[in-house]
Amino acid sequence: DTNPYLLNFKGYNFERSLVDVNLLENLDDFEVRDDDIFIVTYPKSGTIWTQQILSLICFEDHRYRTKHVDTMDRAPFLEYNIRSMDFLSRPSPRIFTTHMPYYLVPKGLKKTKAKIIYVYRNPKDVLNSFYHFSKVVITLEAPQDLENYMKAFLDGEVVGSVWFDHIRGWYEHRHDFNILFMMYEEMKKDLRSSVCKISRFLEKELNEEDIDAVVQQATFKNMKSDPQANYQSILKNEIGIRGCDAQFLRKGTIGDWKNLLTMDQSERFDRIFQRKMKDIPLKFIWD
Ligand code: PPS
Repeated sequence: DTNPYLLNFKGYNFERSLVDVNLLENLDDFEVRDDDIFIVTYPKSGTIWTQQILSLICFEDHRYRTKHVDTMDRAPFLEYNIRSMDFLSRPSPRIFTTHMPYYLVPKGLKKTKAKIIYVYRNPKDVLNSFYHFSKVVITLEAPQDLENYMKAFLDGEVVGSVWFDHIRGWYEHRHDFNILFMMYEEMKKDLRSSVCKISRFLEKELNEEDIDAVVQQATFKNMKSDPQANYQSILKNEIGIRGCDAQFLRKGTIGDWKNLLTMDQSERFDRIFQRKMKDIPLKFIWD
């Protein structure tokens, strides 16, 4: 493989500068606890948002801001352990985050009680979000232009590999896991119901006041201005940026792809989507 930004491990592209192959090689046997919770996403699909929602639901000191811990440390990435955390000594319940395909997660996640929340987003908005993000962070290859980027995205020459393969793999193997599928657009349209749905799945009963506190701190506006939730310091100190407007929380809307793709590009995308997704009954919202 020739792309200096990607590290291909067992057919899946990781972010080369952030990943440790040793860690990947040992992930199969990583010991999963029954009360572990995993957030699984393809990049740019609502990862940070879900990390925040789960941290707010699971940890009272996060919800009521009595203890300040970056959301990233409440729900660390399994494959990008950039802060060298000792996962084994973390108290339960542990939340982990991963962009990995179903076949690379720890074997112990199959047929256990450990819970997975898979968040997906319409792939035109994923492409759009990824395109803008790739321009401003130094760990991702800067797109030459949109046409080339769209080709790279569709060919899986990006971190996360092929979007279609990621969602298909997780969907087709859903019965092997204890998994809840959440849609970014539904979370956006009705955050409160989504929070309730997630907390029911996690078997964490919250009262009205708790739910209000979660919803309030998980809105785009509040997260964007909250240093504990917006990852600005990680972006600047641990990842590295090219542009001064580099942000994980960029617009947070549905349908911003319309400001990027031409009619022709959008139609080409539609044709590929229809062909590749025709047997997958997941619902999508495009605008
Ligand atoms: S990453 O790099 O994979 O972890 O990125 P990820 O967090 O998956 O995706 C970033 C996009 O999610 C949007 N976002 C939100 N949307 C709505 N509400 C909230 N609270 C929220 N938090 C993050 C973020 O703005 C990115 O999308 P775009 O379209 O680029 O704005």
